[in-house]
Amino acid sequence: MNFLILGRGKTGSLVTEVARERGHEVRVLGAAENSHASALTPNALADIDVVIDFTTPHAVLENVAACVLAGKNIVVGTTGWYNELPRIKQMVEKSGSGLLYAANFSIGVNLFFEIARTASTALRHQYFGQIFERHHAHKKDAPSGTAMALQRVVQDISGAKVEITSFREGDVVGMHELVFDCPADTIYLCHNAKSRRGFAEGAIRAAEWLAGKAGFFDFKDVWREV
Ligand SMILES: NC(=O)c1ccc[n+]([C@@H]2O[C@H](COP(=O)([O-])OP(=O)(O)OC[C@H]3O[C@@H](n4cnc5c(N)ncnc54)[C@H](OP(=O)(O)O)[C@@H]3O)[C@@H](O)[C@H]2O)c1
Repeated sequence: MNFLILGRGKTGSLVTEVARERGHEVRVLGAAENSHASALTPNALADIDVVIDFTTPHAVLENVAACVLAGKNIVVGTTGWYNELPRIKQMVEKSGSGLLYAANFSIGVNLFFEIARTASTALRHQYFGQIFERHHAHKKDAPSGTAMALQRVVQDISGAKVEITSFREGDVVGMHELVFDCPADTIYLCHNAKSRRGFAEGAIRAAEWLAGKAGFFDFKDVWREV
């Protein structure tokens, strides 16, 4: 397939590497070549199957809008824009194009969400819940998109919105802890990303899955199919 990857940063670079390993044709654009989505014209996107965005919360919405306008499918890995989710969903569904997003494309984290879903019944049995998330010092958004997704998973089951505490330190790739505590015992669930490779592989498999599809998709609902 022909992929256009937006972002030459820590994750975008690895996504590019994995796409090439899986035999895809890849073009890459960084910030300087794509200011305000200027490079995403219908002509420039004509031969692209799927665009993949790992940029910044400031750039992502313009990139999505340009792709939707050009009728191009887009995988969105960038976080920090979810308060705009209803508007973007409506835009995508109206246009007939395809968008697949995830706060976290790692298969392990999506499995962790399912374990969290089961464990969240603890909140109906006098446990007190907390989420802790740790990331590298350069991360732009807090709390992390993954921590907020985890919070929604817990809330869907228990009705309770557990507090998130964020730490920004060193080179931590991404650690998420879900703790349920009561006077009798503590349940401790932890996912620790050792490298960005899991995100990159999940994002490319998501792009392969999205090619030719129309609709607005959350990776947590489709990860078993990719
Ligand atoms: N969903 C997931 O699984 C997952 C996993 C990891 C990270 N993320 C998210 O992905 C995003 C990127 O993370 P990162 O760690 O890779 O950040 P990063 O290293 O800071 O990279 C961001 C890159 O975006 C580029 N950029 C900014 N505006 C652009 C535009 N208009 N067009 C093209 N490129 C543009 C920047 O280019 P310059 O260097 O030229 O400024 C920079 O290289 C963050 O939102 C992060 O939370 C998601």
